[in-house]
Amino acid sequence: MDYDVKDIALADAGKARIEWADRDMPVLASIRERFAAEKPLAGMRVAACLHVTTETANLMRTLKAGGADIVLCASNPLSTQDDVAASLVADYGIRTYAIKGEDTETYYKHVDAAIDHKPQITMDDGADVVGRVHAERPEALADIIGGTEETTTGVIRLRAMAADGALKFPIVSVNDAMTKHLFDNRYGTGQSTLDGVIRATNRLLAGRTLVVSGYGWCGRGVAMRASGMGANVVVLEVDPLKALEAVMDGYRVMTAVEAAAIADVWITVTGDLNVIDSAAFDAMKDGAIIANSGHFNAEINIPTLREKAVSEREVRPLVEEFTMADGRVVYLLADGRLVNLSCAEGHPANVMDMSFANQALSAEYMVKNAASLKPGVYPVPEEIDAGIAKLKLETMGVSIDTLTPEQEKYLASWQEGTV
Ligand SMILES: NC(=O)c1ccc[n+]([C@@H]2O[C@H](COP(=O)([O-])OP(=O)(O)OC[C@H]3O[C@@H](n4cnc5c(N)ncnc54)[C@H](O)[C@@H]3O)[C@@H](O)[C@H]2O)c1
Repeated sequence: MDYDVKDIALADAGKARIEWADRDMPVLASIRERFAAEKPLAGMRVAACLHVTTETANLMRTLKAGGADIVLCASNPLSTQDDVAASLVADYGIRTYAIKGEDTETYYKHVDAAIDHKPQITMDDGADVVGRVHAERPEALADIIGGTEETTTGVIRLRAMAADGALKFPIVSVNDAMTKHLFDNRYGTGQSTLDGVIRATNRLLAGRTLVVSGYGWCGRGVAMRASGMGANVVVLEVDPLKALEAVMDGYRVMTAVEAAAIADVWITVTGDLNVIDSAAFDAMKDGAIIANSGHFNAEINIPTLREKAVSEREVRPLVEEFTMADGRVVYLLADGRLVNLSCAEGHPANVMDMSFANQALSAEYMVKNAASLKPGVYPVPEEIDAGIAKLKLETMGVSIDTLTPEQEKYLASWQEGTV
């Protein structure tokens, strides 16, 4: 079996961690059990380009149980867990191409290995397989019936392709499922981003000023959790409505240059470009720690930071110190790449349980329905989303009430009014 991982001898450690994550992924486990019996993905070739983590390993096991023939590559050069990659190959027979710290050339060599598999289904986190197939490997389009996309930034790229008439096959936007972004983006990114900052720096957040750029689903999770740890949270936004929400949620809201002067820790999570830029570097407080949790390492203008700095050195693993001409220093984490996946382990299994339940069921949906779907971006069907919420509650031992027939009738009628 062909593969490319750092060290196959790491497999035992990876397997133990994959099993640990599996204990907290009961919804995915129940789907795996059904898939093993029904084989809804029988013989389907899948190219998966995802963060190679313990949770992803459990998704791969689920797709394989459903009969899929998978090649997995990394969706980020720094997020791979090398022991997990080794175990996927050695213990689960999944061809994996991913090495933590791989350079850009190797990264795309690995993406190409997934495309060489002649996939019928693509599964992306950031649309790199779809982007490469359309731009550089169009011969692969002949076999592809459809795909799925995990994250906000990927969905934005795909919608732009669809609007230009460039997208050649249907893709389910897993990110748009309620059971994905309301939980993964908010609670997952909230907890794991701070986990990454803390593991990289071992700094105390209590009493510090923590700035969050972006008050979308991820940003509000980061703000909420940082506030819970005693940080003074400042929110930066460009959308007046979101900014107003942040104000009413009790955060200070200001401009980037204003925030630069007071930020002890500054986290970007916008999906946008150059959110921390030249003017902010000039105004930045001495010793500020900057990190990104948005999909691409484009949110911090790192080339400009390098130009402005008179010297650079690594002071801890994944912590780079930049000294400015006036003597101030700025610390950049993980080269501006997803801090939660580069410096910690990404989202906890419990939220990925729902995200990857959506992935598995969306792949099944695609196999059943691709023939009747035109190229475009499709939501996760509501019944899948609602079914996952129901199942998740059940696995948590939480029961809820149901509407009585009388209530159902009342809520559906227009004749009722003041009595
Ligand atoms: N770290 C992770 O594990 C993880 C998980 C999920 C999503 N993501 C990524 O995080 C990013 C954000 O995702 P989301 O779901 O929160 O998106 P979202 O669309 O809900 O929120 C993004 C917010 O950023 C704001 N914004 C845009 N440009 C800005 C700027 N220059 N300054 C301040 N605010 C700005 C937007 O107005 C919006 O409110 C995406 O790139 C997404 O792919 C990362």
